[in-house]
Amino acid sequence: MIIAPAMRVLVSGGAGYIGSHMALVLAEAGYEITIVDNCSTGHRGAVDAVRLAVASASIVFEECSLDERDRIAALMTERRIEAVIHFAARASIAESCEHPLQYWSTNVGATVALLEAMQIATVQRLIFSSTCATYGVADGACTGIDESSPQHPINPYGASKVAAERAIRDFQHANHRGGGSFAAATLRYFNVVGSDPAGRIGEVHDPEHHLVPSCLLAALGRRSAIEIFGEDHPTSDGTCIRDYVDVSDVCAAHLAALHHLRDGSEITLNVGAGRGHSVREVVRACERVSQCEIPTRTAARREGDPAKLIANTREINRLLGWTPLRSLDDSIASAWRWLKANPAGYAEVKRES
Ligand SMILES: NC(=O)c1ccc[n+]([C@@H]2O[C@H](COP(=O)([O-])OP(=O)(O)OC[C@H]3O[C@@H](n4cnc5c(N)ncnc54)[C@H](O)[C@@H]3O)[C@@H](O)[C@H]2O)c1
Repeated sequence: MIIAPAMRVLVSGGAGYIGSHMALVLAEAGYEITIVDNCSTGHRGAVDAVRLAVASASIVFEECSLDERDRIAALMTERRIEAVIHFAARASIAESCEHPLQYWSTNVGATVALLEAMQIATVQRLIFSSTCATYGVADGACTGIDESSPQHPINPYGASKVAAERAIRDFQHANHRGGGSFAAATLRYFNVVGSDPAGRIGEVHDPEHHLVPSCLLAALGRRSAIEIFGEDHPTSDGTCIRDYVDVSDVCAAHLAALHHLRDGSEITLNVGAGRGHSVREVVRACERVSQCEIPTRTAARREGDPAKLIANTREINRLLGWTPLRSLDDSIASAWRWLKANPAGYAEVKRES
């Protein structure tokens, strides 16, 4: 029997929430991993925890910014990288409205630097983390938003991701015109939730602005109340509706995309659960799972917050055979387990290792 050698993958943003979960999945599957992260919002402790979880894994961690193009290109050459999974970004809608230039600089500028490094090192495969925020106030009320829905982002975060998608497409087309075979998959995630089911790594943002971990911090008594931004949206209970997809399902979608990419592939896929939950429903689900009361406070609507975003996932199911396996309660349960065991985030993991 011929055993294919493990693929060598560079994970940008691998010390962050989704990137560290991807690194863990790749490590368990025997891939050789190179993580590049400047730890602006990520955690060295997340990389330590992945190493601890899979002691046999080949993991190199380069703590630097993607802006250091020549350093990244040299690393790609030295590690003989075959594919890049590009998570590194700034990813808060509210922050992007306050500091838009940081979003253009990181989400567009650093993506362009990464593409240049790939060109220098002749790395031919890319998976890019995009977002449903690129759709803006999309229609799709009945069937969910599909990949052909127009992209009219209503905040700088979404706009910067549309621009990064465009930069990747333009680069790819020029590469093909020059006889190259650069392949790229753009995955537009909806709201990613949950933690490693075995509780080895989790979600840590500082400050935490995502709904599920914020609710669970309130359940632990580490937050006085959850702010509900607007109860006058045109939805059944007046709160925003979002599509919540488990981080393990998101990682599985990346693995499937990685295996699907062929010379010259150009694919764009939604990654979502295909159903929506209102903010009130999520708060109730967090109360159900944690068995704790979660106080809430109504606040004004946030700038750049669409009322409803639900994915149509027919295309990813058709092309990759991918379907999400975890329910919202499953995701909240894994997040709750990790948070209860690691109330101080990665400081706990570091002490143990
Ligand atoms: N979390 C979600 O629900 C969600 C939804 C849609 C899309 N996404 C996308 O998924 C990706 C990962 O999101 P996340 O929630 O894990 O965020 P995160 O903030 O936890 O991770 C991002 C990582 O990128 C690193 N980084 C930022 N700028 C960098 C730079 N210039 N050079 C090197 N590293 C840099 C950060 O330190 C961090 O570790 C992002 O691209 C985000 O836009 C996330």
